[in-house]
Amino acid sequence: MAFDEMKFQSVISEFSATTEMLREVATNFRKDLQIGLKDPKSSSMRMLKSYVGLPEGNEKGEFLALDFGGTNVRVLRYRLEGEGQSKIIRHVAEPLIIAGKYDYVGKGSTQEQMFDFIAKLIDDTIEGEHETKFYLGHTFSFPSAQDDLNNAKLIIWTKEFATAGVEGEVVNDLLLAALKRRGIENVIPVAVINDTVAVLLSAAYKNSDVFTGSIYATGHNTCYLEPSIHDPKGFGKGGMILNLECGNFMNLTPNRFDRAFDRKSEKPGEQRFEKMVSGRYMCELFGMAIAELLDEDKHYDNLTSVDMSMIISDVSENLEKVSEIVSNKIGHHLEVADLKKIQDLAAAVVIRSARLVAASYVGIIWQRAGEGEIQPQHVAVDGSVYEKMPLVQENINRAFEELLGEDAKKVDTILDNGGSGLGAAIAAAMAV
Ligand code: BGC
Repeated sequence: MAFDEMKFQSVISEFSATTEMLREVATNFRKDLQIGLKDPKSSSMRMLKSYVGLPEGNEKGEFLALDFGGTNVRVLRYRLEGEGQSKIIRHVAEPLIIAGKYDYVGKGSTQEQMFDFIAKLIDDTIEGEHETKFYLGHTFSFPSAQDDLNNAKLIIWTKEFATAGVEGEVVNDLLLAALKRRGIENVIPVAVINDTVAVLLSAAYKNSDVFTGSIYATGHNTCYLEPSIHDPKGFGKGGMILNLECGNFMNLTPNRFDRAFDRKSEKPGEQRFEKMVSGRYMCELFGMAIAELLDEDKHYDNLTSVDMSMIISDVSENLEKVSEIVSNKIGHHLEVADLKKIQDLAAAVVIRSARLVAASYVGIIWQRAGEGEIQPQHVAVDGSVYEKMPLVQENINRAFEELLGEDAKKVDTILDNGGSGLGAAIAAAMAV
C-alpha cells in the first residue's frame, strides 16, 4: 500500500511547532512562573520548594546517593573531593521491573516490596557493612511536597508508576522503615531532591553560570534557581531552587494524538507537557500516528524511543533498519516511499518535542533576566533523549536562535551525565 499523501501531510502538520507557537509557549511558561511565584496553586506548574540553593563547589567527603526516578534504580557511593571533582567508589543498579520475573511499579505492587528491593540495593552498595555511618542523599524524581530538605511527600505518581501505598507518604520514612526491616541502622537519609535539582547541583558543583537543571528522558521536568526565595531551613547559596514540575505545564495546545493518548493514560489530564515531549510518550504518539497512516483503528504501543532513534538515524538507501523495525513491531512490509514517511513522522515528533522544551527553557531565561540583560548561562540537561536522540540538540539550538535572536549566543545547553546520582551526594554533603 502507499500512504495517502494528504493524510500524511496533515498528520505531519499536526506535529509542527512554528516560531510563533514557540514564542507563545515561552511567554505562557514565563507567565505561569510569575503566577506560581505568587501562588503555586494558581499555576499549572507545581513550583515545589527544594530547600536547597547552589553548592559552593568545595563540598567534600563520602556519601551515598540513591537515584530513584525511572524503572532503573541506582545506588552509588561517592567521594566528593571539592573543586568540582568526585569519584564513584561503588555503583549498584537494578531495574524495578523485569517482565515475567517481578514488577515493583505496576498496580499490583506495594510500597513494602518496592522499598525492600531498594534497601537491598543499598545493602549491596555498602557491602553489608552495618557499623560505619553513611549519610544518604536521595534523588526521588516524582512530584513531592517538601517542608525541609529531608522530608518529601509524594504528591502523585508520574511516568505510569502505580505502586500502592506511596502517594501521600513521606518517601524517606518508607525508605527508613525498609532499611530497618533489613537490619540497616547506619544509613541515614539526610536529603531528598528531585532529579532536575540533582542535575543543577551537579552541574553547578563543576561550572559557574548554571541556574537551570533539566531532565529530558523517560520523563521531563526542569528546575531553576529563584534568587528571591530564602528560607531558614534551606541550604546552599543564591536563593532556592524550585522544582517546577513543568511536565504538568498546561498552557499549550495539544494536538489530536496528544489528546487521544492522554485519555487512555494512567493519569488523564495530568502531565500534559510531559506527554508531548518526553521519551516515555513520544513513541506512543508515534505509534498512534502510524496506525492512522495505515488506516487502522489501533495504537501501536510497543515502539520505544530507541526505535525512534534508530528509525531517524537510518541513512541506508532502502531504509533497511526502518523496514526491520516496522515489520517486527507493526507487522507490515512497507515500500520504501512509505518507510520514508514513517521516518519523517518520527523526526517530526522529535523535532516538535525539542522545540517545545527549548521554548520552556527560554521562558525561564526571560524570567530570570526580568527587565535586565540576559546573563551568559548554561542550561544543564541530563537524560537519554537529550543525550542520544538524533535531531534534539540541534533543534533546541535552532529554537533558541528563533526566540532569543542575538542573545542566543549567551545561552547553551550542556550535558550533565549522571547528575542525578552526583547531585544526591552533593545534597547530602550540603545537609550535613
Ligand atoms: C516527574 C518529575 C521528574 C521528571 C523527570 C516527571 O514525571 O514528575 O519529578 O523530574 O519526570 O524524571
